[in-house]
Amino acid sequence: MATNLALISRNLVCRRYDGFPPRRSSILQWRRQLATVSASSIRHPKNASQLEQAAAHDGAPGIATLPASWYRSEKICQLEKRAIFSRGWHVTTVVSEFRNVGDYRVFDFAGRSVLLVKGRDGNVKAFHNVCRHRAYPLKTQSEGCSGVISCGYHAWTFDLAGNLIKAPQFDSVPGFDKKEHGLYPVHMHITRGGLIFVNLEASETPSVTFEEHFPGMAALLDGFDFQRYELRKKSVHVGEFNWKTRMDGYQECYHCQVAHKALSKSFSIKEYFVENHANYSQHIAKASTNDKDVYGSGNALFLFMFPGSALNCFDRGWQRSSTAPIDAGHTKIAMEYYVDPDLSEQEKDDFVESFSEVFWEDCALCTQAQMNLDAGVYERGVLHPSVESGVAALQAQTRRLVLEHAALEESLGHEVNPVAVRPRATLNTTKSPEDSLYARLEQREW
Ligand code: FES
Ligand SMILES: [Fe+2]
Repeated sequence: MATNLALISRNLVCRRYDGFPPRRSSILQWRRQLATVSASSIRHPKNASQLEQAAAHDGAPGIATLPASWYRSEKICQLEKRAIFSRGWHVTTVVSEFRNVGDYRVFDFAGRSVLLVKGRDGNVKAFHNVCRHRAYPLKTQSEGCSGVISCGYHAWTFDLAGNLIKAPQFDSVPGFDKKEHGLYPVHMHITRGGLIFVNLEASETPSVTFEEHFPGMAALLDGFDFQRYELRKKSVHVGEFNWKTRMDGYQECYHCQVAHKALSKSFSIKEYFVENHANYSQHIAKASTNDKDVYGSGNALFLFMFPGSALNCFDRGWQRSSTAPIDAGHTKIAMEYYVDPDLSEQEKDDFVESFSEVFWEDCALCTQAQMNLDAGVYERGVLHPSVESGVAALQAQTRRLVLEHAALEESLGHEVNPVAVRPRATLNTTKSPEDSLYARLEQREW
């Protein structure tokens, strides 16, 4: 990121949230807790996570990075989509963004489009944004409101619970049953504070629960009132670099004093610390001054959630960023900026612009580094075991999941894609000659 600097008290990790949603007094208490954290207390975490231990080599002169080939290989990228981005939990937005029945938002996770919509029962529901007829996206706008979900290709229409209610001319097709063609549901978890996470696995239940995937993270999230802030800006960028090139940079602030001059004035970079947990990292830093600046007063919370989600929370606002591969050399980054509604219009703009500037500084670094990762001279680098422990944790988890998934596919002799919904037997497409040929060709190329 290093777009961010965070300071979160270890006390905060353990604090249990006792209300819903957090009250204003809770927020002030949270800010006071952050302000009391000392540098010495954040430099020596008592309980290093398994990830952190795996990333640190005792006595080694450094930690080897992943090879450059993993940053330019299309095969590795496709494997990462199946092994990493098709599983786990990914953050979207807050429930307060869905005010009216039919309000919807569309999110993209490594090319998998997810539709969130507020149902008639008042609850937000999640579906794959793909029509059951011939795969056209049900919503082509990123947000809106509609009483039904009507496909723009042949007008199949679904209700807000995902049931198919209209399929023009299919009434005359013998045996066609609308009940068999409802939308593909997406697993969802909503935190106490209203943050919505999704899991894309096609299985009836996800392979891991939210709590199992991010142990202890809920307490951190519940300490921040995400719903109090208003959405100010949304943006989507396509970076000419591998997704890991960006997330590696996010996971350390070793580069901040060099590359983020303005940000370095707001936070004490020398005290920056990253604490790695299972599948998430907590970035810890301290505001360099208590005077108000564009980020507000006090410290901030920055959370990296493996593989590509981040929540960056300040006094004056917060930002979600979602980073995922398009292909090996192109990465989609979606960001939303939420601001304190009590700020002036100028202060809101200043917050967004300042944090955007950090993003563009990071993009320039990633683009230049990727050119050399592609060029073939550099093969592997070395990571500092302390100031780059977050990068080591990210790369260790990536390495483990990719190798495990590759071994599984090699043992089965075909690709394993956790998001793929198996066709129903009634469609008579299982073990078809087409599927078999595809599997054989893929295996040849492997
Ligand atoms: S693809 Fe949606 S109605 Fe045909
Ligand atoms: Fe950065």
